[in-house]
Amino acid sequence: MLDAYGRKITYLRLSVTELCNLRCRYCMPEDGVCKKRHEEMLTEEEMLCAVEAAASLGVTKLRITGGEPLVKRNILSICRRTAAVEGIGEVCLTTNGLLLPQLAQPLREAGVRRVNLSLDTLDEKKYTYITRRGSLRQALDGLEAALDAGFERVKINTVLIGGFNDDEIPALARLTQQYPVDVRFIELMPMYDSGDFGPRAYLPGSVVTEHLPELKPQPDGDGVAKLYRLPGALGNIGIISPISAHFCGACNRIRLTADGKLKPCLHSTLEYSVKGLDFAGMQALLRQVILEKPRWHGELSADHRSQAGRNMNEIGG
Ligand code: GTP
Ligand code: 5AD
Ligand code: SF4
Repeated sequence: MLDAYGRKITYLRLSVTELCNLRCRYCMPEDGVCKKRHEEMLTEEEMLCAVEAAASLGVTKLRITGGEPLVKRNILSICRRTAAVEGIGEVCLTTNGLLLPQLAQPLREAGVRRVNLSLDTLDEKKYTYITRRGSLRQALDGLEAALDAGFERVKINTVLIGGFNDDEIPALARLTQQYPVDVRFIELMPMYDSGDFGPRAYLPGSVVTEHLPELKPQPDGDGVAKLYRLPGALGNIGIISPISAHFCGACNRIRLTADGKLKPCLHSTLEYSVKGLDFAGMQALLRQVILEKPRWHGELSADHRSQAGRNMNEIGG
């Protein structure tokens, strides 16, 4: 279905939980989230109904997000059932990777075609610092497990954080020479409660090409990243610049949060509850949300944090 600006909406990001086994400093507060009441959260049946309704309106790609989707008890069933929905051509998943050693193979068998894994540093101490609790070894084991499980593509997401990982851009980029992966550097988006890891830590995506003059531009892919490649690499380097060069004009996505709110844009205050709706109700609300999708995400800068009023773990990125 087309939105009011002629953009074709083909991509649903479904967050299955707000909970996470990490506490990345730019994403969520130290105490985690105050766990919402069970009745507020979407059931597996409601998720499935929403995906079916979205598919009936032309959504072909589903990305499962969180929080951390792999801490969700019924994650394999959600993946298996949504992957079987008519019209859904691919189910992908974004994860911090910690639980991939156990879950990569079953996820692949459940029909997940691609995974994106978050990794902001290759230094053990810095990894534990930025995630407030994780171990780099676990994340790297997760990466190996994803590669062994035979996903069609594995991408690494690195959020650019000034004074934290700008010195590691070359080392992180070299992962594409070591493994068949893409590494995408993402501009930090200032969310509601990202403390010091908001506007002050922002770096423009252009720092990546400054650190790596040997990067060769590549033809555009179908995602939001501008693509490059290192000599002899097995995968691409991507730069995702929601701030310095926003891609809202080509946006093809809508979001459904774990607490059942349809969001027409990551950074918009607009959200509509799908709790309790049947297929027809879900379809009607999806139509409305697509038609209300804003033209762009509005000002995002040192003085303008995201208007979403939620942290990233409560939206799903
Ligand atoms: P592919 O399907 O592999 O292209 O993945 P993706 O880039 O769509 O998803 P992923 O979950 O890996 O997100 C990568 C980064 O892009 C995260 O930092 C997201 O927050 C950000 N992102 C995803 N969608 C949007 C969007 O619509 N607007 C903005 N501003 N950022 C987005
Ligand atoms: N800005 C940019 N990217 C973010 N992510 C989480 N919070 C932010 C933020 N404030 C990334 C995660 C993950 C993806 C879903 O979103 O690192 O890779
Ligand atoms: Fe968890 Fe991802 Fe947020 Fe880190 S960025 S706390 S891994 S949801």
